[in-house]
Amino acid sequence: MLKMTKAALAIAALLGTAALAHAADSEPIQPIKPAANINLGMVELGKKLYFDPRLSKSGFISCNSCHNLSMGGTDNIPTSIGDKWQQGPINAPTVLNSSLNLAQFWDGRAADLKEQAGGPIANPGEMAFTHTLAIDVLKSIPGYVREFKQVFGKDKIDIDQVTLAIAEFEKTLVTPNSRFDQWLLGKKDALTKDELEGYKLFKDSGCVACHNGEAVGGNSFQKMGLVEPYKAKSPAEGRVAVTGKDADRFNFKVPTLRNVEMTYPYFHDGAANTLTEAVDTMGRLQLGKKFSKEENARIVAFLKTLTGDQPAFQLPILPPSSDSTPRPTPFSK
Ligand code: HEC
Ligand code: HEC
Repeated sequence: MLKMTKAALAIAALLGTAALAHAADSEPIQPIKPAANINLGMVELGKKLYFDPRLSKSGFISCNSCHNLSMGGTDNIPTSIGDKWQQGPINAPTVLNSSLNLAQFWDGRAADLKEQAGGPIANPGEMAFTHTLAIDVLKSIPGYVREFKQVFGKDKIDIDQVTLAIAEFEKTLVTPNSRFDQWLLGKKDALTKDELEGYKLFKDSGCVACHNGEAVGGNSFQKMGLVEPYKAKSPAEGRVAVTGKDADRFNFKVPTLRNVEMTYPYFHDGAANTLTEAVDTMGRLQLGKKFSKEENARIVAFLKTLTGDQPAFQLPILPPSSDSTPRPTPFSK
């Protein structure tokens, strides 16, 4: 009897190992891959532009103002504050792993990162500049003139090059090596019992129907308030703004849950301050499920294992303005 149990255990252990070896393939979530096929010169230029407030009318606002790379690629406020301290209508999604999104923005109105990057510079509520003026500023900075020429091999600077370089930099903002990914790749002790149970609940309750793939989201548009309507604090109506189809009202791009412990507050209106609240809302509104306090805590524990290696680099040294560079007057008309 004892012998059989031992044999059975051995077989189970073997099967277990085999199952683990294939775990990453059979799970609904896949590990994040490090960035590949990157043009390093373009990345360095894009990094400077990402941090350069001279691309804004006030000279104060850069991409990093609202997508702070030391704050999970967000601004950690419900809705972003832009030019002249205007409060915008919608929460800033993280730029981390945004290269994995099927489209950019909550309603997917930009096809890719390059198309997206032109938006904020000219958005009156964000950087409030124009592309022409932004290019004029760059042209007046000798360091940029040299670097654009090095990277693109042309004498002229245009907005296409600017957005291409920023997008190339953003491709490097992936966050591999989270504890969850280590577990997917076979490191059995990377997760605690509670975290594993949280993952099981996440799968069994149906969260993975919408939050799956490498980014644990970002790959479909789904209705917010599937079972129970959501009372949003933002006038945004989601995907309908792009397609004009009534069926797309309140359909939003499913946000990535990678690094979600850092990207609070949650939802497109930033109305949920904590993961506990967000998980409770998701359970009720999307699945008609009320989680117990313990279940909620386990799912939150699992979500926190999705925090990966954060971008780590020296802050770029921005090329100095020449004396003739027009200095934008803060808050001028
Ligand atoms: C004033 C704050 C602000 C500034 C400055 C800003 N953004 Fe954003 N960003 C936002 C907000 C808010 C959204 C969401 C808008 C929406 O979906 O309608 C967003 C969306 C994005 C997205 C889409 C992410 C996703 O998951 O859909 C990317 C990528 C992005 N911004 C990159 C940038 C870059 C690059 C710059 C600089 C050129 C920049 N942002 C400047 C606030 C800002
Ligand atoms: C039917 C699709 C669907 C299901 C099922 C679903 N979600 Fe979501 N989830 C979404 C959408 C869409 C949003 C964005 C909603 C918004 O911002 O208005 C979202 C947002 C979130 C957010 C906030 C992320 C952020 O950055 O703002 C969290 C956390 C989350 N979901 C967790 C879960 C959990 C946990 C479950 C299971 C209990 C779940 N979701 C089930 C579609 C879904």
